[in-house]
Amino acid sequence: MTTLHINITRLLRELHHLATLTDCPPTTDATLPTPTTAVTRIVFTPRDLEARAYIKSLAESAGFTVRTDAIGNTFLRFPGSDPTLPAIGTGSHTDAIPHAGMYDGTVGVLGGLEAMRSLKESGFQPHRSIETLIFTSEEPTRFGIGCIGSRLLGGVIDPATADALPDRLPEADPQAPTGLTLHDVRTAAGFTGSLSTVPLPPNYYHAWVELHIEQGPLLEREGISLGIVTNIAAPASYRYEITGFGGHAGALLMPDRRDALCAAAELILSVERHTLAANAASGTADSVATVGTVAVHPGAVNSVPSRVTLMLDIRDTDVTRRDTIMAALHADIRAIETRRHITITEQQINADIPAVSDPHIVATLEAICQSDSVSYKKMVSRAYHDSSFIARVAPIAMLFIPCRAGVSHRPDEYSTPESIALGTRILALTLSKLANE
Ligand code: GLV
Ligand code: MN
Ligand code: MN
Repeated sequence: MTTLHINITRLLRELHHLATLTDCPPTTDATLPTPTTAVTRIVFTPRDLEARAYIKSLAESAGFTVRTDAIGNTFLRFPGSDPTLPAIGTGSHTDAIPHAGMYDGTVGVLGGLEAMRSLKESGFQPHRSIETLIFTSEEPTRFGIGCIGSRLLGGVIDPATADALPDRLPEADPQAPTGLTLHDVRTAAGFTGSLSTVPLPPNYYHAWVELHIEQGPLLEREGISLGIVTNIAAPASYRYEITGFGGHAGALLMPDRRDALCAAAELILSVERHTLAANAASGTADSVATVGTVAVHPGAVNSVPSRVTLMLDIRDTDVTRRDTIMAALHADIRAIETRRHITITEQQINADIPAVSDPHIVATLEAICQSDSVSYKKMVSRAYHDSSFIARVAPIAMLFIPCRAGVSHRPDEYSTPESIALGTRILALTLSKLANE
């Protein structure tokens, strides 16, 4: 390769076009620094399918081959001179949670495509094939569990279990099942075939590198250009159903109440208390837990809540510490049930292990940053990523670019053109190096 030129104008144009494929109307949110259109792109909706079709057409115009599997994971392939060798993979996701930004996942997909394109345009012919993936359903919005496409590829979720996942397309009640399953929804979207064909065969990838925005503040705060991810924290999530006794908000006297929402409030504060205590004990900020959805039944101002469903997301770099927080929460739940005469049931949605990056890919990324005089730091990813599940079947690493104030999962998520171009360049150089091993 003589000169590698990342076409940042083209890449930004494509990122901005992708951001127009949103189900969120223009926002008038006065708390945001600039008027920003939020991105809502839920998996298997028309907007998601338009985004996939758009990227597929870009890949085909660049002369890459395109393959889609039964869950909709899409493989954009730059064929190597020996296509029988295990390939080099990159990529991320294009689905977006409600009211999100335009960089989460998309930088890894369009940046991966731009990396392959710029390598091809520079005259580079890889020995191993290079692929950019668009993963299906990285976000848990619709089916309650994240990374469904990569879980299937990595053999982490059983195909029948995945197909039976209830659809919870958020409308009035974010947790109410629609009566459809993932199988119904994917086949209606045109992704037919058996999910048992999705898991990757052994040695499919020689190496895997995902480009992503940091989604945290450290790179920007420390003035460092890139992050090389050494570990991805272990996520878990749970659904709780809290059942009390409802009634008239005026007539049901306080001593007789079994208010499900008051019990939920105690549970939520218990999560926060035990997570803060875990951080205090470890002297780190590595334990994080969030209750991000609460649905109250019947949801009327003059009716005592009889039933509440809520979801907990808890993550830690240390699984034992995560388990310790959950054990303390369980003790509190038993106490809340007894004291308030309430029933609380828990359903575990997932409890995943941390992923560890491959030392050779990390060293390759470091060597390329050093020879390009790019500042970097090795760091932990506290967000989960599709790479967490590709790690089960291939050596992985990740490359982070800074994002403004660490903001993500918000419409004002932002990374500079310079960071996007630099991340894409280092990705391209890394892919080309690994492809010729
Ligand atoms: C991914 O979006 C995550 O929640 O970490
Ligand atoms: Mn996300
Ligand atoms: Mn993401």
